[in-house]
Amino acid sequence: MRDHLVAFFESHHRLVQADALQLLLESPEPLLLSRRLVESTPAEATFVTREMVEHLVARGLSVSGAVARPTLSRRPSDLPGVTRAEPAPPMFTLLGEGFVPTVRRRNALEEYEELFRSRYRALHRLLRGRPDLPNLRTVKELDGFVGTASVIVMLREIRRTAAKGHFLLNVEDESGGLELLVPRDTPAARTQLIPDEVVGVRLYLGKERKRIARAEAIERPDVPTRRTGRRAETPSHVLFLSDLHIGSKSFLDEPWQRLMTFLRGEGPRPELARSIDHVVVAGDLVDGIGIYPNQDRDLAIGDIVEQYTELGRRLRELPERLDLVVLPGNHDAVCPSEPQPSLPKELTATLPDRVHSVGNPSTFALNGVVVQAYHGRSFDDLIPALPGASYERPTDVMKVMLKMRHLGPIYGGRMPVTPQSRDGLLIEPAPEILVTGHAHTFGVDEYRGTLLLNASTWQAETEYQRMRNITPVPAHAAIVDLATLMTTAIDCSGRQTTVGGAPA
Ligand SMILES: [Fe+2]
Ligand SMILES: [Fe+2]
Repeated sequence: MRDHLVAFFESHHRLVQADALQLLLESPEPLLLSRRLVESTPAEATFVTREMVEHLVARGLSVSGAVARPTLSRRPSDLPGVTRAEPAPPMFTLLGEGFVPTVRRRNALEEYEELFRSRYRALHRLLRGRPDLPNLRTVKELDGFVGTASVIVMLREIRRTAAKGHFLLNVEDESGGLELLVPRDTPAARTQLIPDEVVGVRLYLGKERKRIARAEAIERPDVPTRRTGRRAETPSHVLFLSDLHIGSKSFLDEPWQRLMTFLRGEGPRPELARSIDHVVVAGDLVDGIGIYPNQDRDLAIGDIVEQYTELGRRLRELPERLDLVVLPGNHDAVCPSEPQPSLPKELTATLPDRVHSVGNPSTFALNGVVVQAYHGRSFDDLIPALPGASYERPTDVMKVMLKMRHLGPIYGGRMPVTPQSRDGLLIEPAPEILVTGHAHTFGVDEYRGTLLLNASTWQAETEYQRMRNITPVPAHAAIVDLATLMTTAIDCSGRQTTVGGAPA
């Protein structure tokens, strides 16, 4: 029955999440319920979530028509039996999670191939038709070709020639592979390329017998230069936090208390504090167990379930009016391979009801403003691959993510990747806000209309970080006005909380 239901949803272009599938299987009429789910949700709703199943069950199977919406909104107006004169737009709407639970049918190699194909095709759609990529062909169509043409390719290997410092790229598309020369001191050589990203290349092929394609220009998918960003129509503010590391001996209790005082409107700028209605926490909610060698020495709470119970207690300290969105990071108790699923319900059971627990990465709208939230584990691969990049300036790396329209393309690096049929690390749509954590530093920047935030940490420097030469900037947070995207930094690391403009 499980396979049957998955196939049924796939045939209707829907992806059923694992816990939704379980709930369907436990129901007396799984097929009937599945059919009703498909009938009652808009065709563009890609995911079937547990909430959608629960919603339908709560309304009764006999109800037909548009009863369930593809949203995780838990506003009172969405609950059965609560009516209001005019339906308000949902404050929080999940647009997509990177994690797509699939039933394993093929071997791992085929699944990775499918993942790469999905990446290639999605980014090909963004690149094709551009005036800077004239005479677009497949690699195979370059056989015997002389002149200028363009290809859209995935970069499989990037080498630098020892003698002259030119770049040699091994690239491929779905028709075949090609070696490309990027002469140094050319504009094309200035792009810091990342293995396994997808780019458009304008190239020249000469007549000579041992001919090699020369790259003349390299075009990344990127975010559009001119776009009308979505803004909230009503006043609304969101607080971005990350890397709480609850359960660590280094959790910064006093700065956290200063943040709570601020949020209650009892510190500086009380009017700003009271205008906040959402909080997003970008992963590493708890410190976890066995994440790095001898971590037990750094733990104040040595049991994973108790760490989440403590997380629930800490989140209850936040004023009740706040809607919370939390995603896991590499320290959390979910599969470390990315994209990561949301926390299992055994762990979210101890969290307040107003918590939306989502996967890593996730894309959601807050009052209509699209937020791409990603913990940031791929920094561990991207920073060594980008000359000059550092954990001190994570927003520089985030700009490269937006240019690649991908959160972490490198395969076989430190970040494990889940083989799945759809690449869950693509950046689509272009968000108004891209938030990460993981670097334990604080950064605010902007790129082509997207606000970039690295949301600090609430953990002091650990022995392990000292060893790895990482200097954290803890106890900071960013408050974003969703009507303007104006950002205000808050610093709770000193004796006095300071609330000021965004750092330069
Ligand atoms: Fe962290
Ligand atoms: Fe992390």
